[in-house]
Amino acid sequence: MCGIIGYVGKRPAQNILLDGLKRLEYRGYDSAGIAVLEHGKLTVEKNVGRILELEAKLGSTQWASTIGMAHTRWATHGKPSTANAHPHVDHTGKLALIHNGIIENYRELRKELEKKGIAFQSQTDTEVLVNLISDLYTGDLRTAVQEALKLVRGTYGIVVLHEDHPGMLITARNGSPIVLGLGDGENFVASDVTAMVAHTKNVVYLEDGEIAELHAGTHEIRTIGNETVTREASEVAWSIKQAERQGYEHFMLKEIFEEPEAMRNAMRGRVIPSEGLAKLGGLNLTEDEMRDVRRIVIIACGTAYYAGTVGEYFLEHYARIPTEVEFASEFRYNNPVLDEHTLVFAVSQSGETADTLAALREAQRKGVRVLGIINVVGSTIARESNGGVYIHSGPEIGVASTKAFIGQITAFLLIAFQFGRLRTMSQQEGIELANELIVLPEKIERALAYANRVKEIAKHYASYKNFFYLGRGANYPIALEGALKLKEISYLHSEAYPTAEMKHGPIAMIDENFPTVVIVPNDLYYEKNISNIEEIRARSGKILAVTTEGHTILEEYADDVLYVPETLHPLYPFLTIVPLHLLAYEVAVDLQRDVDKPRNLAKSVTVE
Ligand code: G6P
Repeated sequence: MCGIIGYVGKRPAQNILLDGLKRLEYRGYDSAGIAVLEHGKLTVEKNVGRILELEAKLGSTQWASTIGMAHTRWATHGKPSTANAHPHVDHTGKLALIHNGIIENYRELRKELEKKGIAFQSQTDTEVLVNLISDLYTGDLRTAVQEALKLVRGTYGIVVLHEDHPGMLITARNGSPIVLGLGDGENFVASDVTAMVAHTKNVVYLEDGEIAELHAGTHEIRTIGNETVTREASEVAWSIKQAERQGYEHFMLKEIFEEPEAMRNAMRGRVIPSEGLAKLGGLNLTEDEMRDVRRIVIIACGTAYYAGTVGEYFLEHYARIPTEVEFASEFRYNNPVLDEHTLVFAVSQSGETADTLAALREAQRKGVRVLGIINVVGSTIARESNGGVYIHSGPEIGVASTKAFIGQITAFLLIAFQFGRLRTMSQQEGIELANELIVLPEKIERALAYANRVKEIAKHYASYKNFFYLGRGANYPIALEGALKLKEISYLHSEAYPTAEMKHGPIAMIDENFPTVVIVPNDLYYEKNISNIEEIRARSGKILAVTTEGHTILEEYADDVLYVPETLHPLYPFLTIVPLHLLAYEVAVDLQRDVDKPRNLAKSVTVE
């Protein structure tokens, strides 16, 4: 989705802005632009395509301006074109605006402005907003922005730059993230800390309905209604190094290799093996309140939804709490049935997904407590939740989520563990689980040690157009996640079913050109899974099996076999997902796809 970076300070802004944009590339975009005040004149350059193409267009130009802003656009209103790209400039040519989000009443506002004789160059809602601000401007820029924002409906994170105010940026938010970065004699603004963490770790998150004025040495936050806001800065807990590829060919591969660490980070300080307990500090629930929970509803989108589906399994297995997982986009409009004994979990890597946020608000409107399972600290869902769990996976840059998935299922396991010990789980069972959790990250490392084997196998599979992924119990969501990953980055058709469901229809599709990836660890479904594999073999279907080390017998049934270490039955998802993430990655590499920035996708979808 769209990205924002702004700078005001003592250094030339151009390279700081372009570097910032590159750090935001992972969010997905189709055009990019930059605005500075060069010798006091508003100067804008924009382009369809990648940031490198914008740089090429700029050629050897090096502006001296120490203020500016830049944007990557992911088209919503109007196709990707230079005219539709941001920054947008008002009809006087003195005011520029970059914008994330959607102004819903832009048509009405545009008509009003057209009546006043203002002509528009683009199809965007953003050009309407910049002209609205300009129409209300009488010399005080902040007041003009405040007045304009009172007239708009919709979501926005904006930055505004005006020729008459050469040392000042104005920024505001409603529904789209905006973070201020405080430096020494320089200040930043961005939609995501990644864009500025190379320069400062001192950040202030704007809240909805707030506006900030940034100068080189000062910043001031107010509400749109003009009340003063005081907010302490917080420190970003990770370094820019973590948001770099560090020698890996792609961010996605690096992040898959960070899966063991993602599990460790999500568990750190939260498991007490001697007592067979898990303890999460941020749930904000007393033990009595935890015992009072009779039903759990999980809301999420994409990979986070599948993590929630693994979570459902953990919660029902370990805590015996009936659990449902709902697509946030459905939940928000379904008038969900919720009562005082229901607890809702909102799961989101970015903490900014619009559907998940709206679902959270809908649940809260019904009086239900919503806890977040979030990666990005300070994100909107994290702030609006009534408590929750940070997974601490560090920055995830590859558009297709991988390590955050491990962090999310770790969080669910710990929640199920904690709730379980307050209900039916014995201390002995708790100790056994805790001891296994402690060694599980090493087992993930061992699963990763088969990466070269996956790479070899992937070569054969890259030539197929269709795939089935099968799994049972908690490995069914792993099949779903494996299939999603393949779709997202290799654009191959793949669908997942519970293994035994195959015979009720999907098996009709099977022939020698339709391979099946079967997750068949040594768990309670093992024998049954083998029978299902035989059914597929009998129809000439090619099989890639993921099983437990030592079960070489699978080589007699499957064309290819990938191994994971042995673990407790319910915990296999932590291991079986590893070869599936690697498989999707290697197939996509083999097909020469843009792995980290797959077509049409955005890392964080902040529109409906
Ligand atoms: C987008 C991404 C998916 C991601 C989903 C949820 O659709 O392309 O990879 O799983 O959003 O994102 P979240 O940040 O809420 O986990």
